[in-house]
Amino acid sequence: MVRKQTRRTFIKRIAGSILTVLGLSSGGYFYANKIEPSLLEMKEIPIRHPLIPKGFEGIKIIQFSDTHLGFQYNLSHFNQLVKKINGLKPDIILFTGDLIDEPNKYSQVHDLLPILGSLQAPKGKFCIFGNHDHGGYGSEIYRNIMESTNFKVLLNESTAITLKDGSSIYLIGIDDAMLGNPDLPLSLKNIPNNQFKLLLSHAPDLAESASEYPIQWQISGHSHGGQIKLPILGALIRPPFAQMYPEGLYAVKGKFPLTLYVNRGIGTTRLPLRFMSRPELTIYTLISS
Ligand SMILES: [Fe+2]
Repeated sequence: MVRKQTRRTFIKRIAGSILTVLGLSSGGYFYANKIEPSLLEMKEIPIRHPLIPKGFEGIKIIQFSDTHLGFQYNLSHFNQLVKKINGLKPDIILFTGDLIDEPNKYSQVHDLLPILGSLQAPKGKFCIFGNHDHGGYGSEIYRNIMESTNFKVLLNESTAITLKDGSSIYLIGIDDAMLGNPDLPLSLKNIPNNQFKLLLSHAPDLAESASEYPIQWQISGHSHGGQIKLPILGALIRPPFAQMYPEGLYAVKGKFPLTLYVNRGIGTTRLPLRFMSRPELTIYTLISS
């Protein structure tokens, strides 16, 4: 208890000094600590590609990422998010890593399970590992949580989503670039040529390697959009593997053209603050063109 308070005070002091140095008032701290972390932005992004079969036209995919449960984001917040996601009636739900801030210290797994389990998507729920899901020997804890709530964990592997007409698209899940062992050739092994491939990678900068393979789209999280951004200066903290592509849409030039979308995530880590970097839910619609 004493340790917790000390840590919290320490974090507050660091956050306070950062914001003071940057010229923000205590009102600014209040906004970044209490207001902005709850200002969810819903971004609608079309995924347009000629390899998407006609039957997939209009399929709705929702991505949520980086909840970091147990740090600032709690189960009551998460329950509201899950209701919002279900209300949007997605066909597919994707989680791109960092579920719990410190999986081996988290005591509310029992209460988390029914909430995650209540997410509904008729064409499937899929997820990948983030660095926090591996951290502190959390890998098995994370896998057990996700599998017992009907998420398919994609670890350097792919899965086909196939319609009644026989047409398919492929989801590829790659391991985290920071604390895992990403293996793109292995993950692409069983995919026939000329199929639309959507890569899930916690780390956005993996796009540099992914664009060397025939992958059409990549979606990522990890960056939190920097969490604290300032006008002109931009994101203050860019974690490893989120330095080139901190948020939004990118055309990545490599051997094969790749479109990358980086979601800013839901929760926070290290500092309980968001400033000019609202939490985000991304709603993708597939378009065959
Ligand atoms: Fe994260």
